[in-house]
Amino acid sequence: MFLVTGATGGLGRRILRLLHEQNQPVRAFVQLSSRYGELEHRGAEIFIGDLQSERDLQQACKGVQFVISAHGSNASSRGGAEALDYRANRDLIAAAQAAGVAHLTFISVLGADRGYEDAPVFKAKWAIEQQLAASSLGFTILRPSGFSSNLLPLAEQFRQTGIYLLVGDPQSRSSIISTDDLARMAAASATTPAALNQTLAVGGPEALQRQEIPQIFSRIFNSEPIVINPPLMAIDGLRSLLGLVNPVAQTSLGTLRTLLANEFFCKPAELEILESTFGFQLETLEAFLRRYISL
Ligand SMILES: NC(=O)c1ccc[n+]([C@@H]2O[C@H](COP(=O)([O-])OP(=O)(O)OC[C@H]3O[C@@H](n4cnc5c(N)ncnc54)[C@H](OP(=O)(O)O)[C@@H]3O)[C@@H](O)[C@H]2O)c1
Repeated sequence: MFLVTGATGGLGRRILRLLHEQNQPVRAFVQLSSRYGELEHRGAEIFIGDLQSERDLQQACKGVQFVISAHGSNASSRGGAEALDYRANRDLIAAAQAAGVAHLTFISVLGADRGYEDAPVFKAKWAIEQQLAASSLGFTILRPSGFSSNLLPLAEQFRQTGIYLLVGDPQSRSSIISTDDLARMAAASATTPAALNQTLAVGGPEALQRQEIPQIFSRIFNSEPIVINPPLMAIDGLRSLLGLVNPVAQTSLGTLRTLLANEFFCKPAELEILESTFGFQLETLEAFLRRYISL
């Protein structure tokens, strides 16, 4: 039995679909308020709980062999990085160990080990990576760069307006990962011997400059892009203003600023390891978008 947290998220839903196709028994950890109908329809056992409750995590781990931690904090979640990326994973590791789980796959983030002090999500992921590696569980830590599925709403906006908002350095590089490829890796980690007790950088096959993304949209929609390029200082200004009324949101924006101010791409050797570990070829961003966008 697999337990998947964040099962209703962008990545979690894809993992559930794959495990269902492989006829693997799956328990999906969802909140009562989540939209989990599709998961139920796919035969997942639904566990309704709150990741911020230790008791719920202990219950959810009972009878489980493999855990995939695919939840995270986002703008709409009740808790921030400290509650969801840190405490919920710390308690999940403890519950998994107590329940005799064999393996836990953790979705971290590329650059978790770079010591970004101003980015609560990166700090939480790094602390959990260390706790997991020191635990008695078998583990796989996947450190993805940005997800290709994040770009689908931006592509839709581009289709309607021709506008692409690019904050910060247009030449900054990122190896955006196909969210479907990452889901394949997450679903396979527990049963792939080469992934056992490994920490893997996960990115797409190209280190794309940010300015190449509107060019890809332009090719797909056959329309010239209008690129609006505010400097990173615009985010700093917004953060300072927000700090006056909402200090929590100001702290959360630190993660966004870190993402915009730095490069997140994989080295060729890291991509080789990834492809040989999981035995498939990584999908480009353009190929991913063309599969999802109907013209
Ligand atoms: N998106 C990226 O570009 C990116 C890049 C690198 C790493 N990552 C990491 O990849 C993972 C998956 O990201 P994602 O974008 O797919 O996540 P997401 O769409 O933001 O999903 C978050 C999930 O967590 C669930 N959740 C939040 N609070 C909960 C609670 N208290 N109890 C139970 N469930 C709760 C949400 O449930 P609801 O459906 O009810 O809200 C949702 O299923 C995360 O760990 C993220 O940090 C993401």
